[in-house]
Amino acid sequence: MSAHVILAASVAWFKEKAPPLPPSPPPPSIDVLSVLVAMLLVLLIALIFRRGGSAAAPTTASSTALPTASKAVHNYPRGPLLISWGSQTGTAEQFGNDLAREARQRGYDARSVDLEELVPEELASQIAPVVFLMSTHGEGEPTDNAIPFYTWANDTIRDAQELASLRFAVFALGNTQYEHFCFMGKWAQRRLLELGATPVHELGLGNDDQDLQADFEAWREGLWPALSAAIKGGTEGAAEGSEAAVAFEASFRCRWLPGAVAAPTLPSSSFEWLCRAFPKQTLYECRVEANLELTNPELTNLKGGSVRHIELACNCTERGRAAGQLRYAAADDLGVCCDNGHALAERTARALGLSLNASFEMLATARGAGMAPPLPSPCTLEHALRYYADVRAPAPKPLLKLLAAHTVDAAHARRLEHLASAAGKEEYTQWIVVEGRGLLELLEENPSCRPPLGAVLELVPKLSPRYYTISSSPIPSKGARVAMTVKVLREPRQGAETRLKEGVCSTQLGALALGQRVVVFVRASAFRLPRDPATPVLMVGPGTGIAPFRAFVQELSEARRTGETRLYFGCRHAAVDFLYADELRAAECAGILTKLRTAFSRDGPTKVYVQQRLREDGALVYGLLEQGAHVYLCGGTGMGREVVSVLAEILGTHGKLTHAQASEYLKRMTSQGRLVQELWS
Ligand SMILES: Cc1cc2nc3c(=O)[nH]c(=O)nc-3n(C[C@H](O)[C@H](O)[C@H](O)COP(=O)(O)OP(=O)(O)OC[C@H]3O[C@@H](n4cnc5c(N)ncnc54)[C@H](O)[C@@H]3O)c2cc1C
Ligand SMILES: NC(=O)c1ccc[n+]([C@@H]2O[C@H](COP(=O)([O-])OP(=O)(O)OC[C@H]3O[C@@H](n4cnc5c(N)ncnc54)[C@H](OP(=O)(O)O)[C@@H]3O)[C@@H](O)[C@H]2O)c1
Ligand SMILES: Cc1cc2nc3c(=O)[nH]c(=O)nc-3n(C[C@H](O)[C@H](O)[C@H](O)COP(=O)(O)O)c2cc1C
Repeated sequence: MSAHVILAASVAWFKEKAPPLPPSPPPPSIDVLSVLVAMLLVLLIALIFRRGGSAAAPTTASSTALPTASKAVHNYPRGPLLISWGSQTGTAEQFGNDLAREARQRGYDARSVDLEELVPEELASQIAPVVFLMSTHGEGEPTDNAIPFYTWANDTIRDAQELASLRFAVFALGNTQYEHFCFMGKWAQRRLLELGATPVHELGLGNDDQDLQADFEAWREGLWPALSAAIKGGTEGAAEGSEAAVAFEASFRCRWLPGAVAAPTLPSSSFEWLCRAFPKQTLYECRVEANLELTNPELTNLKGGSVRHIELACNCTERGRAAGQLRYAAADDLGVCCDNGHALAERTARALGLSLNASFEMLATARGAGMAPPLPSPCTLEHALRYYADVRAPAPKPLLKLLAAHTVDAAHARRLEHLASAAGKEEYTQWIVVEGRGLLELLEENPSCRPPLGAVLELVPKLSPRYYTISSSPIPSKGARVAMTVKVLREPRQGAETRLKEGVCSTQLGALALGQRVVVFVRASAFRLPRDPATPVLMVGPGTGIAPFRAFVQELSEARRTGETRLYFGCRHAAVDFLYADELRAAECAGILTKLRTAFSRDGPTKVYVQQRLREDGALVYGLLEQGAHVYLCGGTGMGREVVSVLAEILGTHGKLTHAQASEYLKRMTSQGRLVQELWS
């Protein structure tokens, strides 16, 4: 059955009242129990002998627990609740799963569902209130998995009262660094209202530039009473209270597998495991062909971070095939699957009191009945701790509560409980978020903590793929290689300068040796050169924002243009971080670039940025815009915002447009695909 069909079935199921769950099975008789205990002992002894007497299996009592009869069969007096998320990098998905977990504990039969798998036609007959968690990507655009819903809801054939019976709430995830803050959440709220649906709670806006988690928590505190009031006759059951007052109850537990039994069903490689973990992506396992430092190695450490030029072989292993071929277009995005690495996974296993080569399957508890496990199961602990658990990401509060509940040391337990409580809000922000403490560090700081693995995997942040703009064209290598330009994030933490921030994926990529493999997928980007060779092209990409333009330069060298091709590049020092300086200068000499404009921000007495160069070239830039130039921006959000504002200024100064006319002009360019931005913060 396809995921779509499964979901269609589950959504349809919500249209009926939740069926009564079967009664608890009677407790096993003493004889059955003895047999079970004896079997368990035999199994454990066999396992210890098999591994030469070493504690290869988990060493904690809680995590070795084999299946036990569920303590209680839960019912859900508040009825069904559907939570659906539009998410690109996993935050809304994680919020959705957390919300569903809390909702179930509050007495809702809640499901957390990928927006792509929601059948919009069924919303009209949906009896469950639906909570939409909507992230915005691109420039005020839907996430990939929100596109079907967006397209459906925006279709002009929709009737004004089409969703008259739907009750909903929307939380928008966004970042004020972007021009169209929380666009998708605001759109969903407006569009659902236009289609006649009834809001049960006010629109929530979460700002990733500040404290997104806190925004979400504040909104969710108001959601429960609002939902409760909206559900007539369903107010008995779990009492309302703050999130902190709701005790965590695991939806999954792990059953440890003896290696020989597990072997046939376990993924045979990490690549196969990742293919199971990311079923929607066509994954490729590619060999590293080059990993070069792009900054001046003698000065890099003194003046800034390392930037790596990484090339991968396109001739690779492809999902489902031994010999595959990664195909891409210049300046597409490459999604990279993160790997914590063996050493970090080993440390985490040790801190959990487990053995890295143990394997397990995840079983739903009564609370999680009907839910899919959060990661492919069965699974080795190494796969879970290398490719699934982000053990360094700030620990969410439910995880802190879990750790507190499994800590023997009373002082440590109290501290963790406090951090997870409403009273500990400020300390949580400082100690966990700003100072960046994740699962691994908290476990190592607190050796008396032995949480059960199933619950840990349910609550730990998930490693999500990171995107890198492809900095090559397939043409020069005849499709043999694909390149990335990666800034290795390694710097003092903002707000906690004595602690180091090391990026998960960029560090992994920076350290790759030739011949090692990395798992990636391709995502089409909006960067495409105009078809007409006479159309002028303006490229603005300081720092790693140069990536798509290196790819464009390679394309341009194959198919010459008659129109102007100008590149604006900025970095700190000409002698340190002028990425691809030789290639770019050579392209200018050869006329591939009609002009290479540079802005070295820290070489002179005052900072010079690319937007200053654009301003200096204002008259020429205006002329090119009027000739129908395509403008491409790539790099930091701050730079993007300021460059757009300078373009508006140029339209005012040289085109005599008012502020409103200039912004209308730029909007038109965007909608015509003539102003394309790929920005990240
Ligand atoms: C479409 C797209 C294209 C991209 N293209 C490129 C590219 O071509 N090249 C490139 O290098 N990157 C690119 N990025 C960024 C890249 O995807 C990753 O975000 C980046 O490499 C960091 O990932 P990481 O896993 O190393 O860091 P993570 O472990 O994910 O850490 C990053 C997080 O740390 C925060 N952070 C950063 N610095 C600090 C600090 N000093 N203190 C505290 N927190 C901090 C950031 O705000 C961010 O939330 C792109 C992003 C997108 C969305
Ligand atoms: N998600 C991540 O963790 C991640 C990873 C990589 C990059 N980034 C972000 O991506 C952006 C580019 O990073 P990078 O390391 O490639 O470049 P970078 O080396 O930080 O910056 C390149 C050049 O851009 C300048 N610059 C800074 N602010 C600017 C602005 N508002 N307008 C125009 N130019 C500006 C810099 O000047 P000064 O430094 O002298 O001010 C420098 O000269 C940054 O915003 C960075 O934070 C984020
Ligand atoms: C490439 C990119 C583009 C983004 N564009 C916007 C935007 O236009 N408006 C906005 O409010 N937030 C924007 N954001 C911020 C995200 O919406 C925010 O970080 C959110 O928490 C991501 O959620 P997700 O992990 O569920 O995808 C953007 C983020 C990225 C990485």
